[in-house]
Amino acid sequence: MRHFRHVLRLGLGAVGAAGAALPAAAAGPQYWLDPAGPVAAMQGQLFLLTLYIMLGIFVTVSGILVYTLVRFRERAKAGARAGQAGTAVQRETAAAAEEELPPQIEGNHKLEVVWTLIPFLLLLIIAIPTVRLSFALAADPGEDALEIRVVGHQWWWEFEYTQLGIVTGNEIRIPVGRPVRLIIQTDDVIHKFWVPKLAGKMDAIPGRTNQMWLQADEPGVYYGQCAELCGTHHANMRMRVVALPPAEFDAWAANWGRGPVVESEAQLAAVERGRQVFETRACFACHTIEGTAAQGTAGPNLTDIGARTTIAAGILDNTPENLARWISDPQAIKPGSLMPRVGLTPDELQDVVAFLTSLR
Ligand code: CUA
Repeated sequence: MRHFRHVLRLGLGAVGAAGAALPAAAAGPQYWLDPAGPVAAMQGQLFLLTLYIMLGIFVTVSGILVYTLVRFRERAKAGARAGQAGTAVQRETAAAAEEELPPQIEGNHKLEVVWTLIPFLLLLIIAIPTVRLSFALAADPGEDALEIRVVGHQWWWEFEYTQLGIVTGNEIRIPVGRPVRLIIQTDDVIHKFWVPKLAGKMDAIPGRTNQMWLQADEPGVYYGQCAELCGTHHANMRMRVVALPPAEFDAWAANWGRGPVVESEAQLAAVERGRQVFETRACFACHTIEGTAAQGTAGPNLTDIGARTTIAAGILDNTPENLARWISDPQAIKPGSLMPRVGLTPDELQDVVAFLTSLR
């Protein structure tokens, strides 16, 4: 009995800890049971249905188990006590009581039908919505869907708007209320696209193209994360989905690649100098900036870098200071990243940062 109480206390402790951890997780930006679009909502409902059925089974079976353990536990028997000092007849009665078997139910048709039917019905309740949802999610979201090709790289994300000719990195802008078809590929190893509040995960597998769709119902910023171990900076392969009202999205798309936004003559001069550095030093070899001589494709397309909220695949806020830190020594921030130290002079660095921040 002491063991049993110990196990019970451990079990209750674990349930209590899980219960306390759940609201904490709910506060996080990647809490997937707080959906922000139809795909995540449907997946969450199916999960909860399965979870509740499973909890029902767990509580019922453990309840019967606990009842049985308590009700039929070994008790000190009067007969057994008597057996030590009693007569031969008393000893025999005590031995017989110990060997007594519970009622035998083998071959009871009624019981067998009941415990076959109950799991069958429960599995049916889970199977019908599962099959229905699998087909709904595999179906094409339709002709007016926005199509984005997602390419995983070690360790950043490339997003190509196939219908709009726009390429971005680590941050996708999408219009609210419109389905988005994602064509998911990889440039190197296996990665996994996951924006928990919008949809479940999808692998990016070498030599293969996977497809999924998602939709955001409310404007906002949704956090995403590579969900397949892909090397040193797997944990730093993050992304953001920025859902905008359709008019704002259209304005962003129309403005993409329109060149620098400057507020003063002095700023314009710095931006021009920065552009020249970018086009002549190592930067251009790996990065593309629309409207400039930089057309490299090894690193993220930086055409709208000034409009992004983060840099280095979601690990630093996009501020001029962080941009300067990143460019002057990428390996200090992300060791193993393919971005090398370019070795710019402090003035060149400042001008390049002025150029990049003006691209919005
Ligand atoms: Cu890419 Cu993990």
